[in-house]
Amino acid sequence: MQRPLLIALVLTLGTLIVIGTASFAQIPDTYTNLKVLPKDIKKAQLMQRMKEFSRALGVRCHFCHVGEEGKPLSTYDFASDENHHKDIARLMITMTQKINGEILKDFKDGQFTQVSCQTCHRGKKEPEE
Ligand code: HEC
Ligand code: HEC
Repeated sequence: MQRPLLIALVLTLGTLIVIGTASFAQIPDTYTNLKVLPKDIKKAQLMQRMKEFSRALGVRCHFCHVGEEGKPLSTYDFASDENHHKDIARLMITMTQKINGEILKDFKDGQFTQVSCQTCHRGKKEPEE
């Protein structure tokens, strides 16, 4: 690859990483109401799970959290349980963990890959939509 092209590529990637990190700068670094995910989860891992959920259901953060679409994420109350979709999501996380950890673990040789939210939801809030 030509050198200027390589430099341009590195700069672009760098910028994308900075933008990606900055968008979660308004979110707290410590968590007070985790009931199913590990309590000592790192911010990067938690944000990865949240992005995974959002993508799998085709929704944004406010679908499960108290906050308004279009408002800065700093105005959201992520720890609150007022939004009942959050409770459903907790149940779904537990269900997925049980399917993977208790049921599919008995199938050897990679006959089945692990299930995830995406396996059923495929970008929809309700799989049968
Ligand atoms: C499909 C539902 C769903 C979506 C969409 C979702 N979340 Fe969550 N989020 C949850 C659930 C459930 C928990 C609590 C997990 C637990 O109890 O262990 C949580 C917890 C959190 C917490 C920890 C709050 C605390 O202090 O305990 C933060 C921060 C968070 N989410 C941010 C986000 C962000 C940012 C987005 C959008 C990119 C997002 N979430 C999208 C379901 C969702
Ligand atoms: C085995 C299939 C399956 C998996 C895996 C699964 N879901 Fe679901 N989920 C469903 C079904 C089916 C419904 C719809 C129930 C209904 O129509 O009342 C649903 C409904 C929901 C709802 C409520 C949506 C609404 O409009 O009220 C949320 C939130 C949700 N799932 C989150 C998740 C998350 C987050 C994950 C991954 C941790 C996940 N689901 C994994 C099958 C699944």
